[in-house]
Amino acid sequence: MKKNFFFLVTGVLIIHTGFSQLTFKNLRCEDRANPVGLDITRPRFSWQLQPDQRNLMQTAYEIQIGNKWDKREIWNSGRQSGSESVYVPYGGNALQSAKSYYWQVRVWDNKGRVSGWSEKAFWQMGLLQPGDWKASWIESESAADSVNGPALLFRKSFSSAKKIISATVFITTHGMYEAFINGKRIGDGFLTPGWTSYNKRLQYQVYDVTALLDKGENAIGVMTGSGWYRTALAWNNNKNIYGKKMALLLQLEINYSDGSRQTIISDGSWKTSDGGPVRFSEIYNGETYDARLEKPGWDSPGFDDKTWQNVVEKDYPKNNLIATYNEPVRKHETFNAVRIFKTPKGEQIIDFGQNLVGWETILVKGKSGDTITVDHAEVLDKEGNFYTDNLRAAKSQNIYVLKGGEEEILNPHFTFHGFRYVRVKGLNGQIRSVFPETKSPTHNGSNGKPYDVAYLSAVTLYSDMEPTGQFTCSNPMLNQLQHNIQWGQKGNFLDVPTDCPQRDERLGWTGDAQAFSRTASYNMGVHNFFSKWLKDVAADQSEDGRVPFVVPNVLGPMAGGSAGWSDVSTIIPWNMWLAYGDPKILEDQYASMKGWVNFMAGHSRDYLWNTGFHFGDWLFYRPADDNDGRSAVTDKYLIAQCFFAHSTQLLINAARVLNKQEDVKQYTELLSHVKEAFLKEYVTASGRLVSGTQTAYVLALQFDMLPESLRAQAAERLAINIKDYSDHLTTGFLGTPYICHVLSRFGYDSVAYTLLLQDSYPSWLYPVKMGATTIWERWDGQKPDSSFQTPSMNSFNHYAYGAIGDWMYRTIAGLDTYDEGAGYKKIKVQPHPGGGLGFANADLETGYGKLSAHWKIANDKFILDVVIPPNTTAGIFIPATSPESITENSKPLPDQKEIVVSGREGNYIVLHVGSGTYHFSADKVK
Ligand code: BGC
Repeated sequence: MKKNFFFLVTGVLIIHTGFSQLTFKNLRCEDRANPVGLDITRPRFSWQLQPDQRNLMQTAYEIQIGNKWDKREIWNSGRQSGSESVYVPYGGNALQSAKSYYWQVRVWDNKGRVSGWSEKAFWQMGLLQPGDWKASWIESESAADSVNGPALLFRKSFSSAKKIISATVFITTHGMYEAFINGKRIGDGFLTPGWTSYNKRLQYQVYDVTALLDKGENAIGVMTGSGWYRTALAWNNNKNIYGKKMALLLQLEINYSDGSRQTIISDGSWKTSDGGPVRFSEIYNGETYDARLEKPGWDSPGFDDKTWQNVVEKDYPKNNLIATYNEPVRKHETFNAVRIFKTPKGEQIIDFGQNLVGWETILVKGKSGDTITVDHAEVLDKEGNFYTDNLRAAKSQNIYVLKGGEEEILNPHFTFHGFRYVRVKGLNGQIRSVFPETKSPTHNGSNGKPYDVAYLSAVTLYSDMEPTGQFTCSNPMLNQLQHNIQWGQKGNFLDVPTDCPQRDERLGWTGDAQAFSRTASYNMGVHNFFSKWLKDVAADQSEDGRVPFVVPNVLGPMAGGSAGWSDVSTIIPWNMWLAYGDPKILEDQYASMKGWVNFMAGHSRDYLWNTGFHFGDWLFYRPADDNDGRSAVTDKYLIAQCFFAHSTQLLINAARVLNKQEDVKQYTELLSHVKEAFLKEYVTASGRLVSGTQTAYVLALQFDMLPESLRAQAAERLAINIKDYSDHLTTGFLGTPYICHVLSRFGYDSVAYTLLLQDSYPSWLYPVKMGATTIWERWDGQKPDSSFQTPSMNSFNHYAYGAIGDWMYRTIAGLDTYDEGAGYKKIKVQPHPGGGLGFANADLETGYGKLSAHWKIANDKFILDVVIPPNTTAGIFIPATSPESITENSKPLPDQKEIVVSGREGNYIVLHVGSGTYHFSADKVK
């Protein structure tokens, strides 16, 4: 009896504790797991709560921080009431350069529980002051160190006599680098130090290299290539933008077990060589690699560098040095060929089946001096031949010269390409794409004879953003569109957001980035990526507030100030605030936002901004037979006035979040004048716009330019215009991101779906029908007869029109955040079924955990499965006629005390819930 009782009690206890334990996942410091090298003086901490349980809300937290090595506590927040669990700032004394810290957290919840302390997480600070750099900039004096010259090798050997407990290297270059210790690569980043406005902000990287060092002799080797620093960028052979010579700055800090330290620095004792294997490398033109010039052991101890040249120390500034805030560019997917074939011209082509960004890797065995040339292209032409006209002046060509004798694995280092196809010359034998598992094929090439098989695959490179979102639905064409949008993002988020990755451009075009930014925040974690780039936006903004067309600005100080491009300075900070709820991005960008609004105000007369150069609704669609005057051309100054208002509104929003009441007042007044001026200049008394185009109505409605009384008829005009173009859009870069949002907002969901599902151009699905694997720059990049749009402007990997992704997540599936609970603290789930879809699913990793909305239509029921993460609340909109027609988990709503029915809005019944998993079913609204 006793035994049974004990069993019963412990059994219950086990179940009880198992169920009720409050634990953590995803401990993040500045959005990263255990980051190394932060120069943010007050780092912020984020955590997520478990279990996924209904109505779980944090009520208080306590953070403890201490030194990593001696475990001494240096700060404790004390118990703080509140539900903050993302971006909670450090509040202790100043943190020290290069020091490592731990942090941990515990929390209390609304169910009366307290968690244990979380596991310890770590971070390490960067070098916070220019004076913390003991290292000197070093340079080669070689005349070969020029933009068309070879990559340079730098090396230094040293001995470490004692037992090492930790070692950290801080490194940056003028140019790009790959670095090694004792023959092993440091880190897995590529194209480092990344691209910033170098003269003002040059990133250094910090790596924990403890595992690479040996007790005894060690050596460091660094190879530098021209990179964005001095390669020609944009047009007209615009070389040496940031400087003419490459340089290295490196500091290695070693901590020994006896408490002593050793610092190895770049200085006059290093050696350099211009005789390495990378003979030439450029961003647009590609790389030439001569494997005969490889120097075995050059980055290891014992290498004879007597013939190498000395370096010179340079006193380049160090006050532009900043830690790296975004994720590095890393290797991701590897693609094997889907087809290897000869074109009608007789050229040897490999098709990787996906338009991607990165480079090829080749495994080959040949004779010394054999030369392989690899060219890159996105598409084949009408005849099926390799097509590179749309790359314009970019050669996009890699040349490899074989060392010979043994098997070689080759890839470039300081370039990248946008391609789906490669053309290979110089390999006479067979080409295969699937690498042999052993990497060492024995069936060919024995006895030193050249292989008659070479292996070639494609490797992607992009910023290592966390994949956060997924959208799928019952329509395979839309799923392919989502795939194309995501690949547009992968290909063009290569340290900076680029317009395209293939032609002689690959620049941080601001208009494209703002258009796509909200969609990007669904697909991947772009908080750090954009935080870093927005600082370059601010850095390259002129004193009078003009924001450049491209950032980093390589086009000159006056190349800026276009409506819809320069508004990147207000739109992306606000979109990041919505997606991540991080006020720091608004704080950091506030001066830049305000500078831009003041620029527009300063260039206006009577609040009308009708001066200056504007790109307008770039690449809008104008049908060739549009002869009866139904033009799609939107007045550029009308557009400018709309963006003037929009940016002012976003500035007001930011001022509210940051509690800058004076500014709220001042800019609210400005905004009303801007809108009045718009009405006076561009709108007739009955609400007709002087440009009767889709983009004009879209912008006027999206940015609330019209008084309430004129909006419904404006929306109707938009719908009629779309009908007039036989259910097609005609919008360009500026109208497209908003067109479906405006249609949905004014009750035209079905028109929005018609546009989305249209598959003749201009439309999103036309390229899908044509076999696209990324988003095209032009609606009609390739015509139905396979001929091309003009080669001067015809990229097949241009994410701007992918901005429709935002509507797919936010409107079709219905995943959104309330503005006043930004970052999904207050979630809004409002699906818009339609378009004949049987189901639509969206999932998103938010700062609080996974959020999902999956709906389907089955047996005349609308079924909605929702997952709301812990520590958040949600408004859920169910398309239904009454609360009585809705059940949750087969139970009527009144029986569910965790679900509050808050009323009706339009065709929806609105519910309020806390965290948890919910299964709703409602009679389908007829
Ligand atoms: C780029 C665009 C960019 C545009 C400005 C083009 O060359 O590729 O995407 O926004 O110029 O008009």
